[in-house]
Amino acid sequence: MNLFDVYPLFDLNIVKGQGCHVWDEEGNEYLDLYGGHAVISIGHAHPHYVEMISKQVATLGFYSNSVINKLQQQVAERLGKISGYEDYALFLVNSGAEANENALKLASFYNGRKRVISFSKAFHGRTSAAVRVTDNPKIIAPINEGLDVTYIALNDIDTVKTELAKGDVCAVIIEGIQGVGGIQLPTTSFMQELQKACNDTNTVLILDEIQSGYGRSGKFFAHQYTDIRPDMITVAKGIANGFPMGGVLISPKFTPIYGQLGTTFGGNHLACSAALAVIDVMEEENLIENTAQVGAYLKNELKKFPQIKEVRGEGLMIGMEFEEPIKETRRRLLFEKRIFTGVSGTHVIRLLPPLCLSKAEADQFLQALKEVLENN
Ligand SMILES: Cc1ncc(COP(=O)(O)O)c(C=O)c1O
Repeated sequence: MNLFDVYPLFDLNIVKGQGCHVWDEEGNEYLDLYGGHAVISIGHAHPHYVEMISKQVATLGFYSNSVINKLQQQVAERLGKISGYEDYALFLVNSGAEANENALKLASFYNGRKRVISFSKAFHGRTSAAVRVTDNPKIIAPINEGLDVTYIALNDIDTVKTELAKGDVCAVIIEGIQGVGGIQLPTTSFMQELQKACNDTNTVLILDEIQSGYGRSGKFFAHQYTDIRPDMITVAKGIANGFPMGGVLISPKFTPIYGQLGTTFGGNHLACSAALAVIDVMEEENLIENTAQVGAYLKNELKKFPQIKEVRGEGLMIGMEFEEPIKETRRRLLFEKRIFTGVSGTHVIRLLPPLCLSKAEADQFLQALKEVLENN
């Protein structure tokens, strides 16, 4: 059987990782500024993470959600504390799309409405409702088209208010920082007015922090730069450093109703062990502070490059927009300098490294980028 060839691949087989570095099967070492697509939060193969998962799988790999799993409660308590959302409740799933899917469902159960507001360039995943609120017609199948969605330009508060005033909007879903859309940031005033308009119209505000959360922005959640408290927050990617896991943080205003939501694998023992190891390491190694510091340094240095049109982002979620297409620059960084980077569209290179990136590793990238851009 062949693999379903539905996305393009680099001709590389990565077989090993350690900290911010990965190795291919021929033994070549790479600096990982992509973090396996913003997933690696505490670094590859962290010894504490390896130990926690190994011990758990040797004890109990899985049991069903029909019985108590105390690890889930521990994740909820630790996540509440580290994020500043101790009064919220946690629903655990297996991926980012699933987290958004459940958040949208819960919002609709809550106020009985059907229409959703999303934003231009938004990406929220590939399941039914999550893909429908994603601003990319190429990945929305006819079967997904039933959900009523209105897309509005990011930061256009007047149009948002006009739509919310109609009283039929179930939820507004917005990324803390748009990732796939090219590292686009909502302004503080927009977020604050958005929250007020949602409250005034009983519309549920869902913050998708799947890419921008878990410390990546230099705060636990990117929306914490804007001083708002959304009704629901969705998380995935960095939550378990590569073990598939997602979650929805749910404000106390929602009452749980038995049977409304459910999952076979969500919050399983291995995922919870991975998530607990991530929080342990984030706290012990001050990774959020490191992210803020190394991110600010990197952003500042990148702004000095005359070839870069604009540098955007917070913490270690950085977009560099170029006048010219970046495909060749990214290819040369990978194959000549052995540095992984991410991309958004055709003109933006996206940096999403593990949160333990050191200043020396940032310097290695800056030097490599300089050499690539100067030898065009
Ligand atoms: C902001 C955002 N939301 C949702 C998703 C979907 O997450 P997953 O691929 O785990 O379903 C992603 C993935 O890139 C994302 O960046």
